[in-house]
Amino acid sequence: MIAAADFNITLTQQSRLKDFDVKEIPFGKYFTDHMLVVDYTNGEWQTPQIMPYGPIPMSPASSVLHYGQAIFEGIKAYKFPDGNVYIFRPYDNFKRFNLSAERMVMPQVPEEIFMEGMRQLISIDNKWIPQKPDHALYIRPFMISNDEALGVKPSGSYKFMILLSPTGPYYSAPMRIRVEEYYVRASKGGVGSAKCAGNYAASLYGATVAQKEGFDQVLWTDAEEHKYIHECGTMNVFFIIGDTAVTPDLNEGTTLAGVTRDSVITMLKEAGLKVEERPLSIDEVVAAYKAGTLKEVFGTGTAATISPIKELVYRDLEMKFDVNTWTISPELKRKLDALRNGELPDTHGWLYKV
Ligand code: COI
Repeated sequence: MIAAADFNITLTQQSRLKDFDVKEIPFGKYFTDHMLVVDYTNGEWQTPQIMPYGPIPMSPASSVLHYGQAIFEGIKAYKFPDGNVYIFRPYDNFKRFNLSAERMVMPQVPEEIFMEGMRQLISIDNKWIPQKPDHALYIRPFMISNDEALGVKPSGSYKFMILLSPTGPYYSAPMRIRVEEYYVRASKGGVGSAKCAGNYAASLYGATVAQKEGFDQVLWTDAEEHKYIHECGTMNVFFIIGDTAVTPDLNEGTTLAGVTRDSVITMLKEAGLKVEERPLSIDEVVAAYKAGTLKEVFGTGTAATISPIKELVYRDLEMKFDVNTWTISPELKRKLDALRNGELPDTHGWLYKV
């Protein structure tokens, strides 16, 4: 059991905060003064270290560089006007992190390291938390394998780390998305439900091809028929069809179990909408669009928050929406923002005080 006193803390001699004067903070470009590093060797987690942010020494033969055993999470912390700091649903990310670890044959990270490490790191660097609309402190826990060996097998040593990044919105404008019918993000029996680095590497080619054609992202579909919708890669997706919110279910393990997705499902139900988690075909979406019942399409994610999709392109059909007329997703975003800024009571116990 690791207690707060067991952390080894080395503070920076020179904070970079005074030089951090950025008007529009882009996503994931700036990092705070400190980071958490915990090594796993000889079957045990070693003493957690909080140290100045910077490069880490690694062997060029480190197994992660060759075979990619790497997982991560994305979490956000907010500073209320009274100065108190809250993390949004960190236990849910902690649980998902260890599910990803299991799928990638990596060791479980104990709660005392994940939660207490995050809490202590944020307390130390709390002055970096931006207090502007749509801004937050993005928390990036991750784990990499670290054996110095080229054999293909699960590594014996690992590094668990947490970085903090003051950040603005990931998508600053409504998006143009193309339905992907050739490249594949995830298939049954694969690692689609794990938040592993390889999923993101594998998504880059299809996304780059689409971006060259003027799209922001692709909407991934199933590997067998390219008929059923999965997710957008950086976010889960919701479709408001008539008076029902439909989002792809998680049953086949091809879609990430988003924490924002789960929050949105709860909030939609509380707002009196019917919510269906089920297989959703692109044919059904097209039919709803043509019938005039497809009201709103939006993505959800920690980085993406709630992001409207203004155009969804399937083959030669351009499904266009006037996002200014939408009511449901803007209201969801308003409520989620108000909760995260302390303007609405936390009736679900989603906020964890630092
Ligand atoms: C997140 O929403 O936190 C993500 O991990 C998505 C992306 C930035 C990789």
